[in-house]
Formats: sequence, structure tokens, C-alpha cells
Amino acid sequence: MLDQKTIDVVKSTIPAIVQAGPEVTKHFYKRMLSSNPALQNVFNMAHQRDNTQPKALFDAVCAYAANIENPAQIQEAVERIAQKHVSIGITPEQYSIVGENLLGTIDELLAPGKEVLEAWAKAYGVLADIFINREAEIYTAETSQAGGWKGTREFRVVKKTQESSLIMSFVLEPVDGKPVLKFKPGQYISIYVSDQGWGHRAIRQYSLPCVADGKYYRIAVKQEDKGEVSPFLHANIQEGDIVHLSAPAGDFFMDVAALKGPVALISAGVGQTPVLSMLKTLHAQSYKHPIHWLHCVRSQEAHAFDAEVKEISSQMPQLTTDIWYSRAEGHPQGIHSGRMDLDQVKAYFANPDIVCFMCGPREFMRTVKKQLLSLGVNPEHIHYELFGSFEDI
Ligand SMILES: Cc1cc2nc3c(=O)[nH]c(=O)nc-3n(C[C@H](O)[C@H](O)[C@H](O)COP(=O)(O)OP(=O)(O)OC[C@H]3O[C@@H](n4cnc5c(N)ncnc54)[C@H](O)[C@@H]3O)c2cc1C
Ligand code: HEM
Repeated sequence: MLDQKTIDVVKSTIPAIVQAGPEVTKHFYKRMLSSNPALQNVFNMAHQRDNTQPKALFDAVCAYAANIENPAQIQEAVERIAQKHVSIGITPEQYSIVGENLLGTIDELLAPGKEVLEAWAKAYGVLADIFINREAEIYTAETSQAGGWKGTREFRVVKKTQESSLIMSFVLEPVDGKPVLKFKPGQYISIYVSDQGWGHRAIRQYSLPCVADGKYYRIAVKQEDKGEVSPFLHANIQEGDIVHLSAPAGDFFMDVAALKGPVALISAGVGQTPVLSMLKTLHAQSYKHPIHWLHCVRSQEAHAFDAEVKEISSQMPQLTTDIWYSRAEGHPQGIHSGRMDLDQVKAYFANPDIVCFMCGPREFMRTVKKQLLSLGVNPEHIHYELFGSFEDI
């Protein structure tokens, strides 16, 4: 527990930190990564370049400082971050490196004096312990369940399939032939890869667009222009090759037993991967209520998994499917043209019990969330995943 004086001192520095903005965390990462180059094997450098990770850390630090008297208020954020940390294999020892660099940054940018630095050191210690304890629980849970493991495990690519002009899927079976941890629909794994010439190892998350059967995983990877890992996986990883995965993690998942009414699964582009797992799970569990599959993609060539969704649809009369082609030539039959517009299907959202799960680019989700709210959907029923550093949408 923090003493009142420490709490007051930390709170009194919030305005200066907010005024400095994410420059604080940008400086922090530059400082930490230059003095600890081995951490370039851990962080996604593209998230440093586009500033999304410094912004995510800045938001988290500000949220903690603002709720320092009652850290339970930030429990949801702690869970999301801890799940990602575990997927990346963060260790308790690394918290000292982060703490040292956070304090060094505050000192260098704000020069607030000894009393403030000591208060922040204590406050950071409390936050670090919250993460370390939660991460220890997740590591233990992962290793104690059937098929679980800690760190990375070798998987063999048993099938590689071009699913659309941009998306390649990989079916991955454990080399040791033993069962694999059953994931929750919506969760992701991290893949750890390195290539000659990179000078570092890279870690990326991929959602699992399949049903957990304890035997294999599947990932579907969109080739990103100028990306590091996705073009490498498309071009260099072939059937028979071995890759290294951490165990499934993530706080964006569907608890089918908790659902009591209609479900909307909303996605754009490769964002369909976590919601496809949800659709397949609802199908496997013979879910009885209406399900609405709403997907937006640029064109037919870029449209992956259409046949799989149609197959499920043919067996589930309560499943509706609506597809938008945002850049299609002409007007393909049965397809909406242009961007997703939920006004075209507003009847789906009339039931106040409807629960929505969505994934896609930030701007897509901001727009869709606004549409959902204007259609009267309960904000607590809107769940989303971001394929990058987290941000409130
Ligand atoms: C929870 C979660 C689940 C995910 N699930 C999936 C999934 O199911 N399928 C999927 O395909 N992806 C998924 N992702 C995204 C995935 O983890 C990677 O971020 C994605 O594949 C891009 O990685 P990359 O290494 O190819 O690109 P990065 O190297 O990370 O680069 C990303 C982007 O940054 C820009 N960039 C990078 N370097 C430069 C440069 N030098 N100049 C200009 N621009 C540059 C480019 O626009 C590039 O496209 C998920 C992410 C998360 C967090
Ligand atoms: C109290 C201390 C910490 C806080 C508040 C914090 C906060 C965060 C936040 C907000 C994210 C983004 C989560 C998301 O996108 O969902 C994140 C991701 C991450 N954190 Fe931490 N973190 C802390 C400690 C650490 C430590 C000790 C390490 C290890 C060096 C670490 C490594 C990472 C990595 C590698 C990512 C993923 C970044 C990426 O995608 O590039 N963090 N953290």
C-alpha cells in the first residue's frame, strides 16, 4: 500500500506529465532500447516508429496515476496488458529495467526533484508488483492445464494455403506430438521468428481462426506492405518448416455459456480471424440464438474464408451474413457495396440483449462503434480487438 504523501505527490505531477504528452514515453523507449539493445528482440519496432506503443504506455501510466488510490479501477487494462506480456514472455527481472528508465525519463524531461522521483519509484513498484503477480498467475495457469507450456514450443507447418490475394493460412501441429492448450475463441498466439539480416528476433501476435480441439492451431496472416514478419512468413515459411509459438493468450474472447441472445460478429479485412473462431465455436456448440456475420473487405479477390462461412451458414438457419466490398467493380449479387453501413441492417440490433464482437483497423472500429451506439446497442456489449498497441476507440 502507498502512503498518503506518496499518493499526493504522484497525483500532483499528473498535469506536468499530461502536458508533456506521449513525448515522455517516446523518450523512455529511446532511452531504454539504446541502453538495452537486447530488448529489440522483444518490442515490435514498427509500433515504436508509428508511436502507437509509446502512446499505449503513456495512456496506461496516466490511467494508473489517476487511479492510484484504487488500482482496481484499472483491472481491465492490467488484464489485457498482462495477457500480452505473457504471450511475449516478459519476466519479473525486466520490470527493474523499465522502472529505472521510467524514473530516468521523468528526471531528464521534468526534473521534478528528489521527493517526486522517490514517490514515483514507490508507485511504480506497486504497479510492477500488480503485473508481476498477475503474470505469474497466468504463466502458472498456462503450464498447469492440459497441453499448456511456458515460453515457446516448436510447431511444424503441416498446411499452407493462399486464402485470398493477401492472406495465407498456416496449420501448425506441435513437433512433440502431444496435445496443445485449448484456447478461448478470439485469443491469439505469438510467433517468434528471425531471419538473417534482421539483426534481431521478432515477435508477432496472430489470432486463431479455428475451433480449439487440443490438437493443432491455425493462423491466417495478411501480407503487410513494408512489414517485417508477415512477408517473411508468406515467402519463407513452407510446409514442413518449424516455427516457435507461445501459448494462446488474450482477454478478447467469447464465453459462449454467458451469452443469452443474439450475437453480432463484425470485422474488416484480416480482422475476421478472431471472430471466425467465435463463429466456428458457436456452430460447434449448436448455438440457438440469432448470429449476424458482418464483414467488410475491399473486393472479392481479397475476401478470405468465404466458403467456410457459407458452409456454416448452410447449416445454421439463424445465421445471417452481410458482406460489403468497399472497392468492388460493378455490383456483385448479394453483396453490399461501399463501406460497412449498419443502417442497412439496423433490424439486427433492435434486441437490447445483442452482444457485439468486432475486429478491424482502428478507424473502421471507431466508425462502427459510433453506428452501434446510435442504434442503441449497450456500450457494455461492445467488445473489440486491435491488431496493434491498444487504444480506446
Ligand atoms: C492480438 C493481435 C492479433 C493479431 N492477429 C492477426 C491475424 O490474425 N492476422 C494478421 O495478419 N495479423 C494479425 N495481427 C497483426 C500482426 O501481429 C502483425 O502486426 C502484422 O502481421 C504486421 O507485422 P509485420 O511484421 O509484417 O509488420 P511490421 O514490421 O510490424 O510493420 C507494420 C506496418 O508498419 C509499417 N512499417 C513498418 N516498417 C516501415 C518502414 N520502414 N517504412 C514505412 N512503414 C513501415 C508498414 O505499414 C507495415 O505494414 C494481430 C495483432 C495483434 C496485436
Ligand atoms: C508497470 C510496467 C509496465 C506497463 C504499465 C506496461 C504497459 C504496456 C502497455 C499499455 C502495452 C500495450 C498493450 C496492448 O497493446 O494491449 C504493453 C505492451 C508491451 N509491453 Fe509492457 N508495460 C510494463 C512493463 C513491461 C516490461 C517490464 C516489459 C519488458 C521489457 C514490457 C514489454 C512490453 C512489450 C514487448 C509489449 C508489446 C509491445 C509491442 O507491441 O511492441 N512491458 N505494455
